[in-house]
Amino acid sequence: MRLMKIIPAALLGLTLATGASTSALASGEGVELKHQHWHFQGFFGQYDKAAALRGFQIFEEVCSACHAAKYFRFRDLEALGLSKDQVKAIAANHEVDAEPNEEGLTHDDNGERLKRTALQSDVFPAPFPNEKAAASIHGKAPPDLSLLAKSREGGADYIYSLLTSYIDADHLSEEQQAKAGDLYYNAAFPGNVIAMGPPLSDESVEYVDGTEATLDQHAKDVAEFLMWVAEPNLDNRKRLGWAVLLFMIAFTIMAYLAYRRVHARVHNEPANGPWPLH
Ligand code: HEC
Repeated sequence: MRLMKIIPAALLGLTLATGASTSALASGEGVELKHQHWHFQGFFGQYDKAAALRGFQIFEEVCSACHAAKYFRFRDLEALGLSKDQVKAIAANHEVDAEPNEEGLTHDDNGERLKRTALQSDVFPAPFPNEKAAASIHGKAPPDLSLLAKSREGGADYIYSLLTSYIDADHLSEEQQAKAGDLYYNAAFPGNVIAMGPPLSDESVEYVDGTEATLDQHAKDVAEFLMWVAEPNLDNRKRLGWAVLLFMIAFTIMAYLAYRRVHARVHNEPANGPWPLH
């Protein structure tokens, strides 16, 4: 009967451990995070691929004008259910830096960077050649988004909250207005003053799958996409976790049965042997 107690206890422990790690929220200075339900949370959680694809559409049409995602390749989209041809067609809408031509040149006579059409194997192209160029336009360089969902406390909740927590000047106190100056006030950004203007509003993007295009929906979808970009193997890891857990349960049962058998024999033998067991 001991086994009947051990297995549920182990399962409970694992569920609590995984649940607790995904729901930890930031509570930094002046930061208000809005906690959302995410499909990928918890021990059973998997990415919502349709949401992540809508998020890609937002990244492609809006965010990538300022942000790079240097670990994201077009062909990664196949894992969200797109066919090779669909990915090829998406890549073909973008240009990347060309490899040096036959003369070993990367720039034309006017000093312009030579470009070529992107392939599935290419990294999604960055909007600026380097951080300095990015910072010269926006005052602050827009950070690379590939790992941001993992590197900021709150993860997808943080990205969702940031995109939905801008407060416009009319609703700010004088003190807050003075603090924001020429920049923007955001209740979810550490310090509250951010150089990025609100990138999303209702109908920023017309979804190809017909989903209603609200700010809230956009923010959720792009956060799901950025979480997937930062940790694309989460689904596989969870599946592996289950396989290991089932193996351990089977192993425990077998070990227990073997123990009982040996124990029963030991008890049934006369006190002084005979050994070995038969
Ligand atoms: C017009 C340029 C521009 C666009 C478009 C844009 N951003 Fe930004 N973003 C910036 C800049 C500049 C910063 C740096 C802000 C700062 O540190 O004050 C930033 C910062 C961020 C941060 C905060 C990172 C941190 O340090 O915690 C996130 C998250 C972010 N952007 C996500 C997005 C997403 C998602 C989109 C698309 C929906 C987007 N951005 C579109 C310019 C842009």
